Amino acid sequence: MAMPSQPDPRPESETVRFDIVDGVAWVYFNRPDKRNCMSPKLNRRMLQVLEELEFRHDVQVLVLSGEGSAWSAGMDLLEYFRMSEAEGINATRRSQREAYSWWERLRWYEKPTVAMINGWCFGGAYGPLFACDLAFCSDDAQFGLSEINWAILPGGGASKVAAELMGFRDAMYHAMMGENLTGKQAAEKGMVNESLPADKLRERVQQVADVLKKKDSHALRATKWAVRRVREMTYDNAEDYLIRAQEALNDFGGWETRKEATKQFLDDKTFKPGLGAFDKNKVQAD
Ligand code: COA
Repeated sequence: MAMPSQPDPRPESETVRFDIVDGVAWVYFNRPDKRNCMSPKLNRRMLQVLEELEFRHDVQVLVLSGEGSAWSAGMDLLEYFRMSEAEGINATRRSQREAYSWWERLRWYEKPTVAMINGWCFGGAYGPLFACDLAFCSDDAQFGLSEINWAILPGGGASKVAAELMGFRDAMYHAMMGENLTGKQAAEKGMVNESLPADKLRERVQQVADVLKKKDSHALRATKWAVRRVREMTYDNAEDYLIRAQEALNDFGGWETRKEATKQFLDDKTFKPGLGAFDKNKVQAD
């Protein structure tokens, strides 16, 4: 007879791993033997790691990936669900809070974020998937709202993510049928930006990170927040919000940056905005 699963003895500090290489923080779900499912320990550690990396000067872009064959197999059915629920409603709410709070932190992160989905991506993992600004996956990754297969609904934001990222009929089919999408199908449906052969995935994400690193960081943050905010606004509210957001941007160095970028185009003729970013290293620090 198979041995029932036991709580993972891995210390909390080891449930997430990261390296910082040349301005990019590569953060990994690090429970490969449990397919990187999210336990309360992992959720607590991930929030700490994200908070630590958010304001570091040596981090310009954050990539979230998984060790082993999974990106993340969603919530941990043993440690997140069964064990929290056995303790009662307060423990359940606490576990939810621990998970949702790092996804929220990631949705409104100061730095650009990229999901690099190397394998399984199920249920609760749609929270961090949506939280990342951009997403690239390998062709052999698999995406699923498996909740219906074990008699719950896609909670933890997962239904919302499917409805946000896919068309209505696709979201319904995905949530009701409990069938998986391959990386390529996920890309066709708009769940990720691109799907690539597994051995090309990291190289492509590195390329994207290199482009992001060249952009003005304040403008990038204002842009990614704007795209998230305007989704839920009327056209007129969005127009007004964007005026205010640009004015706020002007106030923290934005004028100087724009003056320099405009000069590089109009006077120095050293770059064309339609073809790439200006040289931000020439902006005079105040
Ligand atoms: N919660 C708890 N444990 C999980 C888990 C999850 N979401 N996903 C995987 N694991 C555990 C397994 O129980 C197993 O533990 P054990 O070594 O103690 O037996 C270990 O991780 C390896 O998983 P296994 O199922 O043997 O790996 P696999 O490669 O054959 O299959 C999956 C991978 C992802 C298809 C399969 O593990 C699975 O269906 N997981 C659940 C996915 C899910 O429904 N998530 C939604 C939650 S909201």
